[in-house]
Amino acid sequence: MAERQRRLVAVSNRVGPLSDEGKAGGLAVGLSDALKRRGGLWFGWSGNTSDEGTFREAETVIQDHVSMTTIDMNKEELEGFYLHYANRSLWPLLHYRLDLAEFDRQSDRIYRSVNQRFAARLAPLLEPDDLVWVHDYHFFYLGSELRQCGFKGRIGFFLHIPFCAPEIFTALPASHDIVRAMLAYDVVGFQTDTDRRNFANFCVRELGGEKLPGHRIRVGDRTIVAKAFPIGIDATGYARFAVSPEAGEHEEMLRDLAGERLQIVGVDRMDYSKGLVERFKGFERLLEDYPENRGKVQFLQVAPLSRSELDAYVELRRELEELAGHINGRFATLDWTPIQIMTRGFTRRALAGIYRAARVCLVTPLRDGMNLVAKEFVAAQDPSDPGVLILSRFAGARAELENDALVVNPYSTDDVARALQRALTMPFDERSRRWEGMREAVFAGTAETWCDNFIGELETFDGSGGEVAGAPA
Ligand code: G6P
Repeated sequence: MAERQRRLVAVSNRVGPLSDEGKAGGLAVGLSDALKRRGGLWFGWSGNTSDEGTFREAETVIQDHVSMTTIDMNKEELEGFYLHYANRSLWPLLHYRLDLAEFDRQSDRIYRSVNQRFAARLAPLLEPDDLVWVHDYHFFYLGSELRQCGFKGRIGFFLHIPFCAPEIFTALPASHDIVRAMLAYDVVGFQTDTDRRNFANFCVRELGGEKLPGHRIRVGDRTIVAKAFPIGIDATGYARFAVSPEAGEHEEMLRDLAGERLQIVGVDRMDYSKGLVERFKGFERLLEDYPENRGKVQFLQVAPLSRSELDAYVELRRELEELAGHINGRFATLDWTPIQIMTRGFTRRALAGIYRAARVCLVTPLRDGMNLVAKEFVAAQDPSDPGVLILSRFAGARAELENDALVVNPYSTDDVARALQRALTMPFDERSRRWEGMREAVFAGTAETWCDNFIGELETFDGSGGEVAGAPA
């Protein structure tokens, strides 16, 4: 008789949306596709603050076999945990921006206590054979807190953003506490092998651990699996979005606006990790060094506002708007505006149409865990007229797409300008061949394979520290 499937319990700060309409980021996209297929429980923050905070009654919404249970935070929790520790300490640090990282003990304390509170609220909802899968940098301590609550079942953790080099991570006052807490998980997943290696090196150099065969790491009496599981998209579903009426409308609108001009697009949350300033300068350099493009190309940057409560984000918006104004002021003619920046969000269907109308997509983060825009752009293309992907060497997606994307150093203005020129003049045959290669990769490594691989590893995890069933040595 087939074994009963264990229930999947996913934990992340943001929960949902499960619907296709959402203006969702990478984590929500990957996880909702995975959960919809398997069903289970999704636990996290409600997105609301209330006076009772994490003590307030939980709310549950059931949709597509998924129960989404959320709890509030109070203002102090939201500020210390989310705004300060997660987004002013961990986010910049893990994205290699030590210059932007700020550390203070008050938010360190609140971050730990919110992790403890979420664990205390989740523990009573768990069955012993549940597979608990915790997501992202908001919840490094959650697994060890669940252990404190007595949960003995399997717990996995996946980091959606980069894990920086130990030389940088050690600047975090709590770096040892965090990595020790991560050892309470059975399987720790990363987007790329670089991230996994950074983590393993930290365990070895800072904690006296040891790398073992089968992607295992031993520190003291704990042996865990640490491995790369690159996240993907529901490629078939997204390709279907691209031919939906909503996508068609957006594609047509953009094509009409562009006329004979070639369309360049970028789609990113407005975040300093995305390299938007450098990208704008690369576009400016294109117009300087390859003047034949003046009046012939237009660049649309979609950049929905994000974390606007933080100074670094406010400053970035100001800088970008100023730069776009400067470039337009310098090159615009009565009938041509070179660059347009939009801070409103679009649905995923509408974005699919925008991608389809583009000759070139710029995905040039200074650091990015994976970057699913790159994969969505590929999945959305029209085979009879595919666009070209320009991809940062510092995006996790590079590992899968580097053979056929034009890979650039986003810090090099010349490099970005040269790649743009190459993409804009690329003959159909080459565009088509490159797109086919990327399409294959995007359809091979989907949200489904990501989820199955991770859960498979968690299910076969052998806590004894012996050989892991099915794992390569
Ligand atoms: C990235 C992170 C997610 C986060 C998302 C949006 O994709 O990996 O964990 O939810 O950004 O950021 P926000 O701060 O709005 O949740």
